[in-house]
Amino acid sequence: MQNPIIVALDVPTTDRALQLAEQLAPFVGAFKIGSELFTSAGPDIVRAIRATGASVFLDLKFHDIPNTVAKAVASAVRLDVQMITIHTSGGSQMMRAAEKAAQETALQSGRNAPLVLGVTVLTSLDGDELREVGLDNNVGRQVERLATLASNCDLRGLVCSPLEIVGLRQILPREMQLVTPGIRTGSDKSDDQKRTLSPREAMEAGANWLVIGRPIYGAEDPRAAAEAILASLGS
Ligand code: C5P
Repeated sequence: MQNPIIVALDVPTTDRALQLAEQLAPFVGAFKIGSELFTSAGPDIVRAIRATGASVFLDLKFHDIPNTVAKAVASAVRLDVQMITIHTSGGSQMMRAAEKAAQETALQSGRNAPLVLGVTVLTSLDGDELREVGLDNNVGRQVERLATLASNCDLRGLVCSPLEIVGLRQILPREMQLVTPGIRTGSDKSDDQKRTLSPREAMEAGANWLVIGRPIYGAEDPRAAAEAILASLGS
């Protein structure tokens, strides 16, 4: 089994990110670089983390016209990342352009295409806010609608909340990779994540990958925390 743990490097400096990556690389499947770290540290942080041998999930949630998203995806493939995110609400043409750019640039670069992951409805949005921007105010229905559209546009993966996994598994093809943040272990339930599952519960519900930030990088001993989570998965 692949190691499904993706550690979110939500830290402000290159030094801290690299220190964590070097310490954790043997125990995790990949590292997630988001907007904060990428905006401060740039593509060099991706190269430095790839140099540890670890896989990289570049979580920049692209949302733009199809041509621009395709070019951004192509740049990410040339940086040699293994996962990237786009907003499914950018529409079907944008999603198809992103997947096509991933496949074609990977072929040209002699690499495997990264997994282009669709983000459906941000978990920070509630029904009232969806209505404000003119969308279906039923969050679950909107998530399912965008997930189905993403699947029809040949995306091979989606980001979803732990509590969406079971419902999405019922409507999506089995091969669809589900990546899930909002993971908490028994001892660390007291931050801003409200709807959480344990690592094992999320995998049993049908997740393929777990995005875990504070329970690992915020632990007294991040390496021991990652090892304990891996052991809890029985792998
Ligand atoms: O520290 P924590 O484990 O909550 O980190 C989770 C990571 O997943 C963060 O990088 C956060 O931005 C991201 N994320 C999330 N919930 C979402 C989408 C992304 O927590 N719905």
